[in-house]
Amino acid sequence: MKLARIFFFLVIFCVAQTARADEGMWLPQLLERLNESRMKSLGMKISAKDIYSINHGSLKDAVVSLGGFCTAEVISTQGLILTNHHCGFGAIQKHSSIEHNYLHDGFWAMDKRDELPNKDLFVTFIIRIDDVSVEIMQGVTAKMSESERQVVIDKNIDAVRKKYHKEDTQENFVRGFFEGNQYYLFTTETYRDVRLVGAPPSSIGNFGKDSDNWMWPRHTGDFSLFRIYATKENKPAQYAADNVPFVPRKAFNISMSGVKEGDFTMVFGFPGATNEYLHSAAIRQIVEVIDPAKIDIRRRAMNVIDDYMRNDEEIKIQYAAKYASMANYWKKWSGEVLGLTRTRAVDKKMNIEKVFSTRLEANPSWKIKYGNLLKNLSAGYADIEPFSLARDRYNEIFSKIELYGIAMNLNSLVTAYEKNGDNGYGQRLPQVTDYLSSLYKGMNKNVDRDVFEALMPVYKDQPTPFVASVFKNEFNNVDNDFSVFASNFYNENNLLNKDFVFDLLSKPSVEVIDFLNTHSTIRFFKAIQLNYQENVQSKIKDYQDRINEWQRMYMFAQMEVLKERKYYPDANRTLRLTYGNVKGYTPRDGVYYQYSTDLDGVMQKYIPGDYEFDVPEKLRTLYANKDFGPYGENGRMPVCFLATNHTTGGNSGSPVLDAYGNLIGLNFDRVWEGTMSDINYDASICRNIQVDIRYVLFIIDKFANAKHLVDEMKLVYPKAIKKKRGKR
Ligand code: ARG
Ligand code: ASP
Repeated sequence: MKLARIFFFLVIFCVAQTARADEGMWLPQLLERLNESRMKSLGMKISAKDIYSINHGSLKDAVVSLGGFCTAEVISTQGLILTNHHCGFGAIQKHSSIEHNYLHDGFWAMDKRDELPNKDLFVTFIIRIDDVSVEIMQGVTAKMSESERQVVIDKNIDAVRKKYHKEDTQENFVRGFFEGNQYYLFTTETYRDVRLVGAPPSSIGNFGKDSDNWMWPRHTGDFSLFRIYATKENKPAQYAADNVPFVPRKAFNISMSGVKEGDFTMVFGFPGATNEYLHSAAIRQIVEVIDPAKIDIRRRAMNVIDDYMRNDEEIKIQYAAKYASMANYWKKWSGEVLGLTRTRAVDKKMNIEKVFSTRLEANPSWKIKYGNLLKNLSAGYADIEPFSLARDRYNEIFSKIELYGIAMNLNSLVTAYEKNGDNGYGQRLPQVTDYLSSLYKGMNKNVDRDVFEALMPVYKDQPTPFVASVFKNEFNNVDNDFSVFASNFYNENNLLNKDFVFDLLSKPSVEVIDFLNTHSTIRFFKAIQLNYQENVQSKIKDYQDRINEWQRMYMFAQMEVLKERKYYPDANRTLRLTYGNVKGYTPRDGVYYQYSTDLDGVMQKYIPGDYEFDVPEKLRTLYANKDFGPYGENGRMPVCFLATNHTTGGNSGSPVLDAYGNLIGLNFDRVWEGTMSDINYDASICRNIQVDIRYVLFIIDKFANAKHLVDEMKLVYPKAIKKKRGKR
């Protein structure tokens, strides 16, 4: 073969290798069997055992679940951990006040004594993972109903949790995989003294806020630092002033070499939930019915709240966190609908179903076992549709109305009293007052009234059984006028008066119960809740049980009948590894998005004094002087980059690793066009977004003058070493 041709084939081969991203969130203990050779062919330089081993320190020992909702990683031998700013947000907010506004100004402990404890924040390590499928399935038969099956499985889970060895400081828990076709036991260790070490101001950590959320190009320094503390014996403990920094089994090395397009990457963390093996009917329902309904309700509430926030400083503070979390999934769902439509997810699933059916036709034993599955599933989704819709509407509407929260919380005192008399009442009371104090603090009557008025039409506009008759009656009384309806409800409603309610709660229980039992608002919401329980909740359970059973069989059947496809279990908040490479993408025709951004882009977006795009003066100065320390690259300061790793909610804060397992970035988001990856991952447009680790170090060292934290870390230069070796 001529040299030129060899070269041509080499190029094609390399392009094919880097262009094909791999879908999947893989279980770390199965990497050696399922993924190692593929990962090595994509560029990985370490072994599966370096990632997960129960006998030696491995990378998994440096990854923790943070508070059960995010991921974090150990980055120093003194228990320092790194996660996102939006994951530490709650903790940072709780330490903030007008005098010490750490959200606005940032926070940096210049000494370990200044690190701030956080009640309720914890980190969990995975000690080991064992396959316990056989033990969990013992006694389960095909004839059992879903609830009978669940009883047996729960009993087995209990027995397995007790039987398997664990240290006193550890926990055992079991999770189902592949829709309950497999079960794994996780032995974990949880540390509960986790202190805040550092956080940039929101103008860095949440730069671009909602406008940039789920978007590329991105310029957010979405990180914060905490430290794990332990007893002197290095064991887990509740907060105690004399606890000492935890000494980890493993801490990540930090790469100073940066990334370039095509580099191999891995993300190691705790993804929350995905649904990759649905029937086409389920996806159609999400696209056409469920997502649009939820988007509509949130948009109505957000329109009201946003108007108020823009015109009132106090309301802006009160509603900031609530609004951000509402807006987060509102925006995600729009992206999801768009992505599922553009990638023709329904057609794709229908094609899979067609091949599945054809193979059943050719195989009589499969046909007997699985012949009705697709038909059942499609009918099942049609049956459940009105109830799923009513459930989602109910949850979306009433979680936005604070008056409903007040009424139902007060009513929980009645329930506790009816069940356990004064004892039950007494136990419940502190929880209710706690909840109500923070609820009143974070709400405004007028906003809530207008949200109520904006959402009630959605509630009313449902099929008859889903609308409580009490609502219809009251609504008739005001001539079907939503504004009068809302005003009647909110004007002079004493439940909205905090002093009145707390005064009431200081009275003897009998008096309180009498008052609550006769309050018209409480009676109204109670009737609405009861109607929901009777006409939606209790009906949906049977439909859901049936779908779960079919979906579990369909999962099993797909793995048997469509053997050529690769299967990974849907995310379920357990530890997973996903791999891919650094890569840009084409969001739409004629446009290509490059894989990385830098500080130039921050300055291009800068709007002085803006709510979303202000830039701190110090950062502007560092930029003007190109004062990037050792963290910049050829006169530019990298900020974020894209890769093809398959991630989802819960992966925020996950370590992004290079081919050697060094930390190169911090995962925090996905691109808007690819948010449907939870249902239909598509390598062409699904990208995860990470902060370049060098930007994190730059902010800690040059912006915050907290170099002592960087000094705790081990910085490595893998590319420099490679170059040197190459030259020899
Ligand atoms: N989209 C990110 C994830 O789902 C959240 C980013 C937080 N920022 C925000 N503006 N809400 O968690
Ligand atoms: N931002 C998400 C999280 O917090 C990550 C994602 O959905 O990609 O978990």
